[in-house]
Amino acid sequence: MFIRSMNTAVKEHKKITVVGAGNVGATTAQLIAERDLADVVLVDVVEGIPQGKALDILEACPLWRSSAKVTGTNDFDDTAASDIVVITAGLARKPGMSRDDLLKANADIVGRVAEDTRRTSPSAVVIVVTNPMDAMAHVAVKAAGFPHRRVIGMGGVLDTARMRSFIAWEAGVHPGDVRAVVLGGHGDLMVPLPRLTMVGDKCITDILPESAIVKIMERTKNGGAEIVGLLKTGSAYYAPAASVVEMIETMFGIKDEPLPCSVCLHGEYGISGVYVGVPVRLGPEGLEEIIELDLTDDEKQALHESAEAVRRLTGKLGI
Ligand code: 2OP
Repeated sequence: MFIRSMNTAVKEHKKITVVGAGNVGATTAQLIAERDLADVVLVDVVEGIPQGKALDILEACPLWRSSAKVTGTNDFDDTAASDIVVITAGLARKPGMSRDDLLKANADIVGRVAEDTRRTSPSAVVIVVTNPMDAMAHVAVKAAGFPHRRVIGMGGVLDTARMRSFIAWEAGVHPGDVRAVVLGGHGDLMVPLPRLTMVGDKCITDILPESAIVKIMERTKNGGAEIVGLLKTGSAYYAPAASVVEMIETMFGIKDEPLPCSVCLHGEYGISGVYVGVPVRLGPEGLEEIIELDLTDDEKQALHESAEAVRRLTGKLGI
């Protein structure tokens, strides 16, 4: 029998736990394994689902030339000593629901997951995806007792990706050439900023008519609801999972662009004690730097209104 010589070294892997084996969680696990970024533990309360999806992903790894180890479990102890914990667990929106309608049910779930994370992976960086995401990041940081820099919400990466894709279509350019800025909470009051959104070195206000820009801003704000409306049972997952992986690749130093993420502000932009989306630099320990953009008075006011909407949600939870 012909045996090929073994010349492919098995990479030393970091460990990433993905909590929730639904569409976002499983797709995130798939992308991590496909890119050979880390070993993945997929954990969920439903028996068989994380095990089955993890095994399916593991069996694809030879085809991706990936040596990632992917396992599924119902036991949070199997996630011990993770470098990153991605929280996707929770209820998803149904048509007609806003992200905020999920508040109480998902706060219970995220709170329990964060407590488990503190026990099993006390040095991990936590990426929160569960909606309403900014409020859930606040729930997670409280329940885990982690420093704020180690709990970061995924929202802005997704919102800007949506805006970039709409602009690329409208302007007939490659989405890689579009840099979009969306600030604020990952909710109805998010703040797309056309003034700072560029195609190459040109501002979109110089290349697209105002009516097209207004439509793109509205479509960005409704990006999640548009997909919920089409799918009917469930919400978006390909772009959300790709957004999580963008954050992971940046934390691992594979990419080094600033990203819009939900972090707890401490006076930046004149806002304190609330998670809200702003441009940041990420590193292996989580948040490294908050970038303060020069905003007009109107933009600042819109950001403050968005932050207050998040604060109202955490207020409802009494945290
Ligand atoms: C979205 O915007 C699920 O919040 C996510 O699609």
